[in-house]
Amino acid sequence: ELGEVAASLDMRAYLVGGSVRDLLLNAQTQDVDIVVEGEAPVLARQLQARNPELQVSVHPSFGTATLSFPGGERLDLASSRVEHYPSPAALPRVESSGIQADLWRRDFTINAMAMHIHPERFGELLDPYHGATDLKERRIRVLHSLSFIEDPTRILRALRFELRLGFLMDAMSERLVRNAVHLDVFSQLSGARLWRELSYLLDLPHALALSDRLSELHLWPVLRGEPLADPARFRARVARAVDSLRWYRLLFRAAPEVAGWRLWIRVFWGDLDDARLRQRLREFQLPARELSAALSDVEKLRQARSRLLKPLDPWTRYQLLSPLSMEGLLALLSWDECEILQAQVSEFIQHQYDLRLPLSGKDLQALGIPRGPRIGELLAQLRRAVVEGHVTDRETAKQWIRQ
Ligand code: CTP
Repeated sequence: ELGEVAASLDMRAYLVGGSVRDLLLNAQTQDVDIVVEGEAPVLARQLQARNPELQVSVHPSFGTATLSFPGGERLDLASSRVEHYPSPAALPRVESSGIQADLWRRDFTINAMAMHIHPERFGELLDPYHGATDLKERRIRVLHSLSFIEDPTRILRALRFELRLGFLMDAMSERLVRNAVHLDVFSQLSGARLWRELSYLLDLPHALALSDRLSELHLWPVLRGEPLADPARFRARVARAVDSLRWYRLLFRAAPEVAGWRLWIRVFWGDLDDARLRQRLREFQLPARELSAALSDVEKLRQARSRLLKPLDPWTRYQLLSPLSMEGLLALLSWDECEILQAQVSEFIQHQYDLRLPLSGKDLQALGIPRGPRIGELLAQLRRAVVEGHVTDRETAKQWIRQ
């Protein structure tokens, strides 16, 4: 219908970008992107007039509109356009254009295909830059040599598509990445934009491959503010963290989900010195809660780590580890190749992270202890008795209280 309405307005509409790529890959597509040669907001209004259940929000100054269907699906409509970059990495100036030029401004050939959706040519592929061949040959290729200079986030997008699809950049694109990194293009980019792209990468289940790729392309100094001090050791740590995450997810299927990206913040940046770590994570503009949780985890992890290289008594160990989040614990578990440390941390994760006391404050009152600070003190002592193994269930807890 969209194609017909567009045609009735004398506009041509095309499916573009990731939607075409995913369609050719037979993959699930997230958002559907449509480009029209004409005014997208006008088309959107016309569609809404014919389908009152559609929700439409238009952005006339960008020439775009978003249609939301009652089922929650979304469709983005944009007017075809070209962008001129007044200076590298600056926001572009936009002008309307035909579909060919619209495709030319895109990142990679596999994302620069369009499919006709107007009635007389429905389904026909428009592929001026041979994206279909690159899809078949599993290749990420930029359209022109300034692509990464104009938009450095595309370097991280290239890695994202490599890892997600199991593709590789062609030699030329990879050379252009190295060249752009050498020219320090990332310095033009805000930390928040850098983090946005990075967070997508950190969410993929390919952390070791990602880390290797970031090393090969000399991107660690950009992301960390300094090179890796000891690449082999760093890599071994990442490999252990991959195993730890897998172990945790297998063992605790019902446990609250740990977020991969939180673990990777701690593993990838956790060895920086305090000032640099703070500076980097601040630049990323993480939400305040995430920032303080990450900083606190790293601090606690460092304190715990050196002490856990030797066996500790259960209560000392508990006090060192209980302030850490699960992501922090998994980072610590992977920090060193040391069996004693690993045994102690995994013991804590399995048996003590989610420690529940056999008695509550109410139970203590029922046992005759008056309300007041004494209850809190007793609960703290009870916790210690449980950690040390003196109390194992409600009965032993009650006996312990009576003594
Ligand atoms: N695009 C680009 N340069 C960027 C970001 C996006 O050229 N820095 C273009 C690409 O053509 C891309 C389209 O805009 O296909 C839509 O971008 P986005 O939704 O971010 O990516 P998708 O390709 O749809 O990928 P995903 O499946 O991850 O959403």
